[in-house]
Amino acid sequence: MTLIEIQNVREKLLADLDAISGAPELEAFKLAHLTRKGTIAAMFDELRSVSKEEKPQAGKELNTLRQSVEARFKEREEELGATGGHEEHGRLDLTMPARPVSVSTPGHEHPLMKTLNEMIAIFERMGFAVENGPEIEDDEHNFGKLNFPPDHPARDMQDTFFVKPTPDWTPTSKDQPLLLRTHTSPVQIRLMERQRPPIRAIMPGRVYRNEAASARSAVAFFQLEGLVVDKGVSMADLKGVLLSFARQFFGSDAKIRLRPSFFPFTEPSAEVDVSCYICGGKGCRVCKNSGWLEILGSGMVHPNVLSACGIDPEIYTGYAFGLGIDRTAMMRYGVSDIRDFFENDYRFLEQF
Ligand code: PHE
Repeated sequence: MTLIEIQNVREKLLADLDAISGAPELEAFKLAHLTRKGTIAAMFDELRSVSKEEKPQAGKELNTLRQSVEARFKEREEELGATGGHEEHGRLDLTMPARPVSVSTPGHEHPLMKTLNEMIAIFERMGFAVENGPEIEDDEHNFGKLNFPPDHPARDMQDTFFVKPTPDWTPTSKDQPLLLRTHTSPVQIRLMERQRPPIRAIMPGRVYRNEAASARSAVAFFQLEGLVVDKGVSMADLKGVLLSFARQFFGSDAKIRLRPSFFPFTEPSAEVDVSCYICGGKGCRVCKNSGWLEILGSGMVHPNVLSACGIDPEIYTGYAFGLGIDRTAMMRYGVSDIRDFFENDYRFLEQF
């Protein structure tokens, strides 16, 4: 292999490159000359048999050959639009049909919304209107008017996320703390401030609690609040509505039981359990052998709450209840980790 030979090969390859008119030819050129098994690599191998005296010069010539061929190759690649992905996959074909979606049920309701919508439909049939309120609340609506006195330990029942309108904001004595609502009960207050009895409404929405996330509790979850205020409303009405709801939602033999409880905004207050829909009350793993599942908090609206909203508690009475939608959906579908609802893993969501 002489210097002249090397120069001749260089001229030839550059001329060949110039003559190429399409991406497939260019690809063939690359395979023949520029890969590890190509002509240029073979010439480098031949260097070994070149005499000691000529070796440095020949090496230099070979490097020039490789560099100039590679440079010209790149230019041609750009000219022919054969760079990057196109080189491997051919040109983009806009007429190709789209890939079929691989899931069996593309696009359907999220299990939480499915549960919520079913609940809403049941309450609507019983004459309840649907109301909404803001997720960023003030202290007065989330606590104050719900009869949580300032500094009362009841406020510790709910760990709260406070909100600052701007990073350097500090409340003055006139300002109320802003917070992410810890329950849907402030929507009761907003409704009673605005509307005179009779009131019969449900208030679904997202709520927030500053708790460590675990399989049983998430920092954001959904509740559905119910409120009825009128003349002569009693605890028996509450029980009737909740039993009817339980039968429509959990099945016609569902039973409910009320246990005494405490909430600052209701008096008396009751925790409501529904008979376990899995074992029918005999006891199983889901109900931890008790036969009952706790589904909601409820009670008669506290007279202080009615007064705070300008409704005369001597004339009107009311009941309220609040249930957790995530918990209910978990029970219903046998989901053991609440976080599954928020991760949006298609393999999970597809099952509903
Ligand atoms: N707001 C209560 C809670 O979040 C639930 C509740 C609503 C209790 C209405 C009684 C009446 O725990």
